[in-house]
Amino acid sequence: MSDTLFNIEDNQESSMVFLNQYADNADIVLECNDSVEFTKKLQTDSIQLIITSPPYNIGKSYETRVSIQEYLDTQADLINELVRVLNPHGSICWQVGNFVDKGEVFPLDIYYYPIFKEAGLKLRNRIIWYFGHGLHASKRFSGRYESLLWFTKSDDYVFNLDDVRVPAKYPNKRHFKGDKIGALSGNPLGKNPSDFWGQLETDFDIGMWDIPNVKSNHIEKTKHPCQYPVELVERCVLAMTNENDIVYDPYAGVASSLIAAAKHGRKGFGVDRDNDYIEIGTDRIHKLLNGTLQTRPIGKPVYEPTGKEKITQIPIEWAQNERSAYK
Ligand SMILES: C[S@@+](CC[C@H](N)C(=O)[O-])C[C@H]1O[C@@H](n2cnc3c(N)ncnc32)[C@H](O)[C@@H]1O
Repeated sequence: MSDTLFNIEDNQESSMVFLNQYADNADIVLECNDSVEFTKKLQTDSIQLIITSPPYNIGKSYETRVSIQEYLDTQADLINELVRVLNPHGSICWQVGNFVDKGEVFPLDIYYYPIFKEAGLKLRNRIIWYFGHGLHASKRFSGRYESLLWFTKSDDYVFNLDDVRVPAKYPNKRHFKGDKIGALSGNPLGKNPSDFWGQLETDFDIGMWDIPNVKSNHIEKTKHPCQYPVELVERCVLAMTNENDIVYDPYAGVASSLIAAAKHGRKGFGVDRDNDYIEIGTDRIHKLLNGTLQTRPIGKPVYEPTGKEKITQIPIEWAQNERSAYK
């Protein structure tokens, strides 16, 4: 591990470190520890991208549910430390959904925004990540999106738009008036992917044909209950960092962010306090390094059912009855 990045006098016994084994330049550091404790060991201004999905305080196996205020106070302590280690040209991407208490919904991005703002960061996008499947609600509409808050530390930040453009819907569209009449109006590299990210929906759609729990059929699924797709992180890595930069996930889970970083020649640092997840993450990184890790390819086209598939047909039992029979 480079001592320019770490205060190496700290105890590193639990770290699992892989140096320069992938793409000649990607160092991976994954440690079982508390995120605040680990972040304190990182050097000021050293990280280009911090990307994570924190615990939502909803009573998952890896968290202790507390009041929303206590939860936010704890998060603010970590966020202040994260801002310290963030490079002046760097970004933080905070991916969250809702905290729900007795049926009342608290959108976490609304609660987090003032904490980041107070810490001096500037919001660049509130990205909506929508997906086609999930729990079915009965007392409100089913939730089908989460958000990703993208903040920068300054106005001079890395944004490689050309590296994340997506194919234009109408590449042959031309100007129809003015000086440029007849000339192509689009960019040959594609269009800006916008702040509404839905291509990841296919991850879950693909599993739909075989088993009801679509998430368990996802190509990247491990035993972690809340991992996010590597592709979601890849777009941020490509847009907000350059090769050899450090990407850091303070709630690394099974190392999805580190995998996205290493795939693109960036260094990946991560911490999680659950050793089971660290072991799975370590195994995934080994698989990435030896070429056997399966991840959904970035930009894979969305699968659309044709309507002819058996599973898309109205079942005979439903077709025979009036709609009122089910109310
Ligand atoms: C939503 S999950 C992140 C999953 C991750 N994005 C992935 O794809 O695997 C949140 C993670 O935070 C970890 N965690 C919770 N509190 C922590 C703390 N204080 N320090 C370090 N990790 C913590 C949990 O063990 C859990 O794996």
